[in-house]
Amino acid sequence: MTKHIGILTAGGDSPGLNAAIRGVGKAAQGYYDMQVIGIRDGFRGLVENRTTHLDGSMLSGILTRGGTILGTSRDKPHRMLFNGKKQDMTDVIVENYHANHLDALVCLGGGGTQKNALQLLEKGLNVITLPKTIDNDVAHTDTTFGFDTALGIATNAIDRLHSTAHSHHRIIVVEIMGHRAGWLALGSGIAGGADVILVPEIPYDIEKVAEAIRGRAAGGKPFSIVAVAEGALPIGEAERFHALRERKLNASDKKERKEVKAELAMFESRHANHTVDLSRQLEELTGLESRVTILGYLQRGGTPSAADRLLATRLGTACADLIHEGRFGVMVASRGELAEPVPLVDVAGYKKLVPPDHPWVISAKRLGTNFGDM
Ligand code: F6P
Repeated sequence: MTKHIGILTAGGDSPGLNAAIRGVGKAAQGYYDMQVIGIRDGFRGLVENRTTHLDGSMLSGILTRGGTILGTSRDKPHRMLFNGKKQDMTDVIVENYHANHLDALVCLGGGGTQKNALQLLEKGLNVITLPKTIDNDVAHTDTTFGFDTALGIATNAIDRLHSTAHSHHRIIVVEIMGHRAGWLALGSGIAGGADVILVPEIPYDIEKVAEAIRGRAAGGKPFSIVAVAEGALPIGEAERFHALRERKLNASDKKERKEVKAELAMFESRHANHTVDLSRQLEELTGLESRVTILGYLQRGGTPSAADRLLATRLGTACADLIHEGRFGVMVASRGELAEPVPLVDVAGYKKLVPPDHPWVISAKRLGTNFGDM
């Protein structure tokens, strides 16, 4: 009997999503003779029953396109803004899954999507996921599609910033995406030869950063590139942040959770301009001029790299194989050359952060790159 599968993309967009939709869709349709339905704008599309038939023509010509042809949203099934208030829409999703005669739901997303997919799995849906995010922070997969493209963009930006920093004898602080995980800042910082790399996993001491920059200037290099992840924090602030997150996790009731959430929101708004503050502080501490460049959404847009197309295609076709075999409740992870199913329960709620003694960090330290920790 022909199987019907639904595909949705959720969370922030990421280069390689269309390559993955094409990989799952073409293999499911052409090789396994399944019917493929696209669901618009993430989980919201399933609540509002906005679907489209993903036929051959829709799956054609999308391999090289950035973004997602299906649209995306950060809506969570259990807390979705609907009719003006946040509601648990999980049951509506279950209803529409059955109304569309789906045998499987493929969710393409990052950490948040893995959690949402697990909830739907627990409601009895045949869910299977793929790991995408430029942050590269999904647990139990070597890498996620989108990361390689963003890495190339950020590295290219650092390359370009070098010549202007050098010409003007300036510090340039370049902000790179990554709120909790520093993979992108770390990878592009190393590949682009940044002099300082600041990531959320290694809290920094501003004095140590300034000392490194002053040392470079004294050695005849009065310019420096500081690659800073969005979520990098100075030592004391990092402790406060982790204590707040801990309190949120252990909150005994709704009231306490709400209070801690408000404190966290205040903390984050205080840090919204932290890259600009960091640049200003470095000017004061080094006597050098400093400028800021925020790469922002440039890192997420545009054509996926060859590596991301290849990864998304490999994982996408492996996903179709698993659906054919009836294997659900898993994320299709990349492990070496293989695409392996990993139970969603082992992935959801876990982040792959940069270990402070990761080989990339050690390698950068051997070159004298400063992380603000020594
Ligand atoms: O896609 C992941 C990510 O790019 C993070 O690095 C970033 O902090 C976040 O998304 C911001 O995205 P948005 O503004 O779409 O929520």
